[in-house]
Amino acid sequence: MVKKTPIAVFISGRGSNMVALMEACAHPDFPAEIVLVLSNRADAAGLETAHKAGIKTLCIPHKDYGKDREAHERELDKAVRDSRAELICLAGYMRVLTPWLVQQWQGKMINIHPSLLPAFPGLHTHEAALKAGAKEHGCTIHLVTDGVDEGPILAQARVPVLPGDDADTLAARVLEQEHRLYPETLRQFIEEQF
Ligand code: GRF
Repeated sequence: MVKKTPIAVFISGRGSNMVALMEACAHPDFPAEIVLVLSNRADAAGLETAHKAGIKTLCIPHKDYGKDREAHERELDKAVRDSRAELICLAGYMRVLTPWLVQQWQGKMINIHPSLLPAFPGLHTHEAALKAGAKEHGCTIHLVTDGVDEGPILAQARVPVLPGDDADTLAARVLEQEHRLYPETLRQFIEEQF
């Protein structure tokens, strides 16, 4: 059995990437263990999924902090430190982070983004790829830095854009790769850095 690095996963919604990480972590030879799933939204479906699997979950609604983004993130940071997680995986966490939190977790926070960065940062990436007439699309795992979707790239997976694709069919093709790439990249990152 390998040493398991404790990690926290941040979500805002359905949490299918979180599930991919949960499934990977269930293997004794996978070098991570999810000690906390944190959401900024109480209605994130992934919270229930994680709770049912016996993982500690917490919701810290950003709305409770009004415009004070850093106050919200100080609570997130405290929760992660209390959980003893050493690494944060953003998995569909739909908030732009403040430089303060990014600084706290420099080199220890990774994100999955549904495009081949630097192409199509931000939201609605599948629509943007189709609109641009891209022949290829995909997903990127990267370290989180101050610039949105800009940090050093750890891994990418490519898929073709097929004739007749709409945003949903393209998103589904990319998502399949996301679920494979995130655990694979996390394993490699931990083996190299921890
Ligand atoms: C994924 O496409 C992820 O790349 C993006 O948001 C989506 C989240 O999906 N950041 P899920 O909540 O993991 O199912």
